Amino acid sequence: MHGLKVEYCPQEIDTEFQPDPECIKEKMEKAKAVLFESPGNPTSRVIREDIAKLIVDIAYEKKKWVFYDQAYRHIYYEGEHLWIQKYTGADEVVVTIESFSKDLAIPGFRLGYMWGPEEFIKHAAKLKGYLTISASNIAQKLAIIYLEKELKEKYLLKVIPEYRRRRDAAYNALTKYLPEARVVKPRAGMYLFPDVSAYIEKMKVTDVEFAKRIAESKHVVMLPGSAFHPNSNRYLRITFVTEPPERIEEGIKRIREYLEENHVI
Ligand SMILES: Cc1ncc(COP(=O)(O)O)c(C=O)c1O
Repeated sequence: MHGLKVEYCPQEIDTEFQPDPECIKEKMEKAKAVLFESPGNPTSRVIREDIAKLIVDIAYEKKKWVFYDQAYRHIYYEGEHLWIQKYTGADEVVVTIESFSKDLAIPGFRLGYMWGPEEFIKHAAKLKGYLTISASNIAQKLAIIYLEKELKEKYLLKVIPEYRRRRDAAYNALTKYLPEARVVKPRAGMYLFPDVSAYIEKMKVTDVEFAKRIAESKHVVMLPGSAFHPNSNRYLRITFVTEPPERIEEGIKRIREYLEENHVI
């Protein structure tokens, strides 16, 4: 709508998907706004504190907006969420984006909200009104029950240990069955984002083709990395929260079977 151009700072597995501070400094010179999420999708990366602070400091000094997407703020297995809103100047520049999708596992409802400086929010609310007048009533009622009856606390206490078991199952199966993949064990979020270049390069296929073949022949569904950014075409996104540990292990085992059948391993 505003004719802005998106510039990216790469996030690669070698730095555990942390963006390079030098890249941030350089890109923020010209930028109007910075958007980042923590924990991330598709990498599950939790932003490093010094990097997050650098972004807020530059934004405050140079009067830029920071959009902080913390949709996964409750989905932690180790450590705690980083609230960048605590930094000096954040109340003037940080717009926080939140969602009910992840807590409640209701992504289809698309119910979320943003909060931040009034100067920004009043315009965002106006724009939202032009796009769609209101969020689904049913979704809003569900969110009220979730918040008022303290279901949030109870629900998260129940699901997080289960998600952790699933995260561990996915990570352990991946390192066991696909030892040439490079993977970071995420301490938050819902996804593994392994670099599978060792396999797809041997097969001479793209990430999209690879994901498609595994889906068709082994009925295991993953998203190819290039769905997120063209440079992420060495990666696959594996969602680990939606299936029990046995099925996650089985799914990853099937990827190995596929590679064996095709003489890649
Ligand atoms: C980081 C992040 N932010 C926001 C969203 C969108 O959430 P919603 O379902 O509320 O549109 C997603 C959904 O996958 C996400 O991964």
